[in-house]
Amino acid sequence: MTKRKEIIIPEKDYENQKVIIASIRDNNNIELQKNGLQKKMHIITYGCQQNTSDSEKLKGMLYEMGYVDTKVKSEADIILMNTCCVRENAELKIFGNLGALKKLKTENPNLIIGICGCMMQQEHIVKEIKQKYRFVDMVFGTHNLHKLPQLIQMATHEKYTLIDIMNSDGLIIEDIPTKREDKYRAWVTIMYGCNNFCSYCIVPYVRGRERSRNPQDVITEISDLAKEGCKEVTLLGQNVNSYGIDLNQNVDFADLIKMANNIEGIERIRFMTSHPKDISDKLIHTIKDCKKVCEQMHLPFQSGSNKILHAMNRKYTREEYLEKIKKVKNAIPGIALSTDIIVGFPGENEEDFNDTLDLVKEVEFDQAFTFIYSKRKGTPAEKMDNQVDDDIKHKNFEKLLEVQGHISREINESYLNKIVDVLVEGLSKSDKNRMTGRTRTGKVVNFNPGINEIKIGDLVNVKITEVFSWFLNGEIEI
Ligand code: SAH
Ligand code: SF4
Ligand code: F3S
Repeated sequence: MTKRKEIIIPEKDYENQKVIIASIRDNNNIELQKNGLQKKMHIITYGCQQNTSDSEKLKGMLYEMGYVDTKVKSEADIILMNTCCVRENAELKIFGNLGALKKLKTENPNLIIGICGCMMQQEHIVKEIKQKYRFVDMVFGTHNLHKLPQLIQMATHEKYTLIDIMNSDGLIIEDIPTKREDKYRAWVTIMYGCNNFCSYCIVPYVRGRERSRNPQDVITEISDLAKEGCKEVTLLGQNVNSYGIDLNQNVDFADLIKMANNIEGIERIRFMTSHPKDISDKLIHTIKDCKKVCEQMHLPFQSGSNKILHAMNRKYTREEYLEKIKKVKNAIPGIALSTDIIVGFPGENEEDFNDTLDLVKEVEFDQAFTFIYSKRKGTPAEKMDNQVDDDIKHKNFEKLLEVQGHISREINESYLNKIVDVLVEGLSKSDKNRMTGRTRTGKVVNFNPGINEIKIGDLVNVKITEVFSWFLNGEIEI
């Protein structure tokens, strides 16, 4: 393979983005008409909904440039990997999958391979890619995915590895074309970044400081989605409750929800993620009063021990968390609660872990996402010297899963024989004669449509006939 030079793309005026997109599209169209060759893209997305939403933008730009989707990597003209680095095993998996692309590049030297997303905001990772993965054509970060057209234009002309990582995180670029997977349900980013610096977490380092989108831009996006038939939106941010603090507009998250609630055509509003320290009474009442806001909240508590919460820099105590949960449950009966929990944070002993177990039993979450603590380079917790043994972490993790599994199942039992409102998402994966969708509380429901003509995006009533820990079965109810 020829030796490749690395170039750093200088900052320039990106007003011109639409012109570049059009020029690539024209070239691709010429090739299509001349040789019948349609350019194809394959995008691999890791990590959270923020990355899913970013990938929809990458796809949107590529679509505008004349690319169509392919599931087959070997058919692709461009492969993009949108990466996550929240835990070590995510990174290991990405490196493994990236290595496997080398063969494709050798077979097809015109293939463009790009790697982007959170992992690329870390210097040591970019260095490793430069050294060990020289077949990669372009590397870019979370703050400059809008530059994709420029990068493609350069990558087709020059055989360099293009590296473009921006550390400045002041920008919000509106109007990036977006191609969403789903017509009826959409992720809508309302803010970027995080200011919380939980001591274990890499996100603030790779996503930058909190930046809220202008409320008018958010509301216009949701209204446009509604006009195209979208029924459900999930307002997205690392910490949605601090929306608006950085704007000079006297508008907070509760105000934004109220505005979204007034948009005709939208039937369901969800949001994630919330930080317990920022859940205000105003927000709880807004959620209660806005009929389109679903009875569901994801409220990570991470640990039930005050000692560990303090070391994690979470800025609330166990008692304060429980108090907020009580208020939320009182105001919104039947609300489904979910959470994130970390097992094996440095210094966590048996007593601390039991505090976590007790909290799980006391709150009775519908669902818990449990993670084994993973050291992240550059975070304060990486340097803590009281790291927990792997054996203990795994044993406690299993225990927590078991306890939560029983609670989820018990909560789901209460759905038996009830009639629920389901937004239809498609055919069930396990049984093609059944359809699948979700309740307002976020439960997956598989149901038999019977002789009724039911389409994706319909809102239907389903009677629950069978329950499991992670989903419900039912029959359509006319
Ligand atoms: N902003 C969101 C999500 C952050 S990442 C929030 O604050 O809730 C999603 C979850 O990954 C976190 O809630 C946390 O439980 C987990 N996580 C983050 N860093 C981790 C680490 N170093 N080790 C294990 N789990 C981690
Ligand atoms: Fe990470 Fe904490 Fe920010 Fe969530 S709130 S992204 S866990 S630093
Ligand atoms: Fe991962 Fe980045 Fe999300 S690190 S969890 S993809 S914000």
